Amino acid sequence: MTGIHGRRGPFEDGDIVQLTDPKGRMHTITLKAGTAFHTHKGRLDHDDLIGRPEGSVVRSTSGVGYVALRPLLLDFTLSMKRGATIVYPKDAAQILAQADIFPGARVIEAGAGSGSLSCWMLRAVGEHGRLYSFERREDFAEIARTNVRRYFGDDHPAWELTVGDLNERLAEPGAPREVDRVVLDMLAPWECVDAVADALIPGGLVCAYVATATQVSRVVEALRDHGRFYEPHAWETMVRDWHVEGLAVRPDHKMIGHTGFLVTARRRADDAEPPERRRRPAKGAYGEEWQKSQKKREGGGGAAAPEPAAPEPTAPDASAADGAGE
Ligand SMILES: C[S@@+](CC[C@H](N)C(=O)[O-])C[C@H]1O[C@@H](n2cnc3c(N)ncnc32)[C@H](O)[C@@H]1O
Repeated sequence: MTGIHGRRGPFEDGDIVQLTDPKGRMHTITLKAGTAFHTHKGRLDHDDLIGRPEGSVVRSTSGVGYVALRPLLLDFTLSMKRGATIVYPKDAAQILAQADIFPGARVIEAGAGSGSLSCWMLRAVGEHGRLYSFERREDFAEIARTNVRRYFGDDHPAWELTVGDLNERLAEPGAPREVDRVVLDMLAPWECVDAVADALIPGGLVCAYVATATQVSRVVEALRDHGRFYEPHAWETMVRDWHVEGLAVRPDHKMIGHTGFLVTARRRADDAEPPERRRRPAKGAYGEEWQKSQKKREGGGGAAAPEPAAPEPTAPDASAADGAGE
């Protein structure tokens, strides 16, 4: 189901359906002829849905109405089973746009986590692209595999999921090369910069999604110091919902203040001499140590600039720090 099949027309056996009750609570079911969905508000037979148009209202045995729709990908990813923290839809949208994930692209992803971003990227690269996903935890890889298969209804022809550490796997013979994009959602993307540079085509793009400011700093400095990338770009997005009712039109009182930060950088051609940076770092940005070694380097002293010290990220739990997320 990589195209429009299963996304429009009357409900069919095997479709994923999202049922919304009068209080806005959602339940996601997979239609199976002859079976029923049980709630504390009564039973709902799947056969009552099969053959009905999408957007119908079906009633449980106790008369409660449920709106039946196929879930959008954002609904699916928010409700699917999770191992690791997922990439949220607002950030997935940014990744697709800013990392320019195009139909037919060859993309490396690590870690696959729960497979949320894998679903978004598979939809973007399409059947003729290639998504090589790496995940070092077998249990998370299994969750990702199940979620992707459930969303697409079968194995996606463009997807290759490998269990293992990205650096180790990319060093093996037969590892993907000449890829257009690399998207990293993991704890320490700066450790993978060498392997990523080897895998990317000139002009290719690396995108890192991280949870904390210290991680942003480390990945940006690693890309900057590496020598095979152009100047990185770092940003975040915030989404503010609105309450719209009669004359009461205003932003919602509550919003999600933080999910993650994004960093992108383009891969240089191997023989390209980067133009001199026009904007030098602000005085004091790196501290005295760095400035001394930089002066030495510029004067031919040969000392490499030390990586600015940055503590390990201190996210509230392991899965939140492992990449980004709420
Ligand atoms: C935040 S999760 C990724 C979530 C995923 N993007 C999604 O949307 O569902 C980070 C994952 O990266 C994996 N990981 C961390 N370092 C890795 C590495 N070097 N190689 C492969 N996987 C790695 C972790 O096991 C974890 O599952």
